[in-house]
Amino acid sequence: MTNKTSIQDSWASRWIFILAATGSAVGLGNIWKFPYITGENGGGAFVLVYLTCILLVGIPIMMAEVFIGRRARKNPINALSDVAEESDSTKKWGLIGVMGMLSGVLIFSFYSVVGGWVLHYIKVMLTGEMSGISSDEAGTAFGALLADPATLLGWHTLFSIMTVVVVAAGINKGIETATRIMMPALFVLLIILLGYAMTTGGFAQGWNFMFHFDFSKLTWNAALIALGHSFFTLSLGMGTIMAYGSYMTKKASIGKTVLTIGALDTLVALVAGLAIFPIIFSNGMDPAAGPGLMFISLPVAFGQMPFGQLFGTLFFVLVGVAAWTSAISLLEPTVAFLVERLKMKRVTASIGLGVIVWGLGIACLGSFNFMADVTFFGKNTFDFLDYITANIMLPLGGILIALFAGWIVKDKFAKDELETSDTIYKLWNFSMKFTAPIAVAVVLYFLLNPIK
Ligand code: PFF
Repeated sequence: MTNKTSIQDSWASRWIFILAATGSAVGLGNIWKFPYITGENGGGAFVLVYLTCILLVGIPIMMAEVFIGRRARKNPINALSDVAEESDSTKKWGLIGVMGMLSGVLIFSFYSVVGGWVLHYIKVMLTGEMSGISSDEAGTAFGALLADPATLLGWHTLFSIMTVVVVAAGINKGIETATRIMMPALFVLLIILLGYAMTTGGFAQGWNFMFHFDFSKLTWNAALIALGHSFFTLSLGMGTIMAYGSYMTKKASIGKTVLTIGALDTLVALVAGLAIFPIIFSNGMDPAAGPGLMFISLPVAFGQMPFGQLFGTLFFVLVGVAAWTSAISLLEPTVAFLVERLKMKRVTASIGLGVIVWGLGIACLGSFNFMADVTFFGKNTFDFLDYITANIMLPLGGILIALFAGWIVKDKFAKDELETSDTIYKLWNFSMKFTAPIAVAVVLYFLLNPIK
């Protein structure tokens, strides 16, 4: 590109980029949401649709995000407008990045509330408060936490501070260091928990539940949820992966890199399912327990098992680490923009943004108590923000990025960045022009007009 006046840092290696992007992708979406939506939607067939969506829609869009970021080496807004300009189009494409920044801010506000619940559960597992608890008691305990704004605020504040500190420290000292420590820890914890789940006696049942493809159980609605989730779980549609891609050097192959990230994210989701369902089954609990699966059923299950206190604590530490690295990536695109475009100091930008998202988070945690009456379109603030970001803003951002990469960016530039064989390039290009936008448009349509 002609005007490459980048002021950015770079990742130390291709593997650091892979691990940082995996840190963003692997989060509450994998460990909390994926198992419970799989449980609610009947298991195997749902998993198969989800895997197809990751491969046909998620991976190609992720390739587009990475190459746009890397080509411009700027924050998402400037990256999109620079790449558009270079392809003789309007700089207004940068507006996708503006919507992305907004999505990040809004997602963070409820994400950090759930992150706070996780921190609270680390504490209660560690102190053994959950040992021998019944499911009614666990339900009551979770309800009591939600009803207590002061406790929620404390944990939400701690989680926000933890996130801001890393973002403020910058790409190399902050995000990269956190990645180097937390990602290996995450994989080790996951393997330990998987090993533990294998000893519980419910493993075969858990495995069958996830990999027995019974299509009679698959509803149209479940397929839509699978596609929607493939976006959220890969952190697509809001410029996060684009921002991370902008810190990547030209040497690495984008296709292979992105495939690795997609594979790791998928692996973690599957292993999380394989760690959770056996524990649920061996305790005779319901796999379709919904969002409470992790905060109600699991503590009960751990509370009844040998070494449950230790492994329960490890489990919530794992979720906490995953949520933390994702939360960091939610703030990064906006901080990059404030630093590059408005010339703010990184520390000032991170703290300023942190205060805003922390404040919005208070409205989210209030949804369960003092602000329970405040609703938007019939939903409380927490549910409303979750709904409009995951179901509308990310898919919309995804469609626009796909259309931009497929129809606007000149072939020669895309080819130059992707450096792949003709066949892969054609497949990718077809996905950008048709498969991804059409699939996402169908999802958006049906999410907004649910099938009764
Ligand atoms: N991918 C994260 C998860 O699965 O929990 C959530 C997320 C992070 C979404 C960052 C979007 C994003 F930009």
